[in-house]
Amino acid sequence: VWTAGNIVEEQVAKIREQIGENGRAICGLSGGVDSAVAAAIVQKAIGDRLTCVFVNHGLLRQDEAEQVERDFVASTGAKLYVANEQERFLSALAGVTDPEEKRKIIGREFIRAFEAAEAAVLNDAAASGEKVGFLVQGTLYPDVVESGGGEGAANIKSHHNVGGLPEDLEFELVEPLRTLFKDEVRAVGAELGLPAEIVQRQPFPGPGLGIRIIGEVTEERLELLRSADAIARAELTAAGLDQEVWQMPVVLLADVRSVGVQGDGRTYGHPIVLRPVSSEDAMTADWSRLPYDLLARISNRITNEVDGVNRVVLDVTSKPPGTIEWE
Ligand code: XMP
Repeated sequence: VWTAGNIVEEQVAKIREQIGENGRAICGLSGGVDSAVAAAIVQKAIGDRLTCVFVNHGLLRQDEAEQVERDFVASTGAKLYVANEQERFLSALAGVTDPEEKRKIIGREFIRAFEAAEAAVLNDAAASGEKVGFLVQGTLYPDVVESGGGEGAANIKSHHNVGGLPEDLEFELVEPLRTLFKDEVRAVGAELGLPAEIVQRQPFPGPGLGIRIIGEVTEERLELLRSADAIARAELTAAGLDQEVWQMPVVLLADVRSVGVQGDGRTYGHPIVLRPVSSEDAMTADWSRLPYDLLARISNRITNEVDGVNRVVLDVTSKPPGTIEWE
């Protein structure tokens, strides 16, 4: 029978067998549910032979890095190393506008950042001639299917943790959630004692805001999107709708401008798209019918408080035919 307890037990045994008595692993935390649960399960299996690495790629939302450090470490006591790699990702993404290219670059740089962190984090292991051979990933079943790994599946998007991996990967992968759907992962996380702030978190894609800026990713555009996103999330939470909405991507159409008027003057700014969706497993989704007064508050605040944005639009497309993210 499927119970969270059984899954944990089964996976812990499997992980111990794969990694062995002396093997060491690192795990990339994205700040999301999946990687946190994957890390917690591996920590249960091999204890402090696991080191978690949080790569701050600069594509995070407001306060996200601080939140990961606080919530995750507090609940698991896991070893955490924070790699500040904003510069690496921004320069690799400079001039790039194609969505698949962005995803591949971000996937590749994630791995490079881990490789760079490996030496710094585990110099004790290096000193004793040991090697960190295992990389833990929170890959879920839908990621596998949508990246073309499922039977007969088409490649829709290269999820950074599946299709975007470089061919010369030097780690053996540990993927304890590979057969699970999101709701099952949440149940497993709760079973492992992770707090609601982590387990009930809305999904956030590994490539972060990099795939929510339609156009080139720049520091200035990231700043703008972070401000708009923080407002939208704060208002959704204040309205008590966090649990009802599966997730609400906030997207910046950086290459689109429209004319507006503010005060006495003409503006020529960018549109922000709100993409609230309801879903069971992200394989299909419907657009969420958010209350009009909530949408009005979000729109008013974003256009008033975020410089450079003069229009807020609502995405009313289900999946299919739209995907949840715009890229
Ligand atoms: P799409 O846009 O394919 O998204 O409908 C389905 C779900 O997956 C998330 N997503 C990702 N998650 N790495 C991730 O960890 C990725 O590269 C990625 N791309 C999309 C998306 O936010 C939604 O929950």
